[in-house]
Amino acid sequence: MPPYDKYLQEILIDEQTLQKRVAELGAQISADYGEHDDLVLICILKGGVMFLVDLSRQIELPHEVDFLAVSSYGKGVRETTGNVRIDMDLGSNVTNRHVLIVEDIIDSGETLRFVMDVMLARHPASLKLCTLLNKPSRRRVNIPIDYVGFEIENKFVFGYGLDLDEKFRNLRFVGVVNLDALPK
Ligand code: IMP
Ligand code: MG
Repeated sequence: MPPYDKYLQEILIDEQTLQKRVAELGAQISADYGEHDDLVLICILKGGVMFLVDLSRQIELPHEVDFLAVSSYGKGVRETTGNVRIDMDLGSNVTNRHVLIVEDIIDSGETLRFVMDVMLARHPASLKLCTLLNKPSRRRVNIPIDYVGFEIENKFVFGYGLDLDEKFRNLRFVGVVNLDALPK
């Protein structure tokens, strides 16, 4: 039995559906930006990494990738407190460049609000946001999202970059966590 089995309530988005949607997003982004745009994809670590890799390969324009690691103070397994900090900053300067942030999931919106404010202070030529998953029912702060893979209900999910206590990011699908199987 695979080690994730007991935590999996159901597969929410299977591999084929994920890959098809990522290809659509890549095509849309390729159409929206010009080939001379100085485009840089910024992956929010760690959750965005699988999505970033697949999305980057679907974008038919020259672009760079960079990585930003953020975390929340006093964060429980299933809650964001709203106090977000940078754990690892970008390697590149984004001033006057076209920045597209690539995130796994937007829940309360606190993490992305913080990231957007940090990026805006660096004066990019443009700033857009692409998230694989969106949980609109949990939103606490309003943020404009330019590209969304899937809108999902308020369920805790894992796989395809999203972790369950730091594990199972490698799963090729997005699954709903069986909360009864978690240690209390
Ligand atoms: P927000 O700041 O509340 O929008 O939370 C966003 C962050 O919380 C994401 O980048 C994820 O790391 C994490 N997160 C939110 N919902 C889930 C989930 O269902 N599974 C795994 N991680 C999640
Ligand atoms: Mg994340």
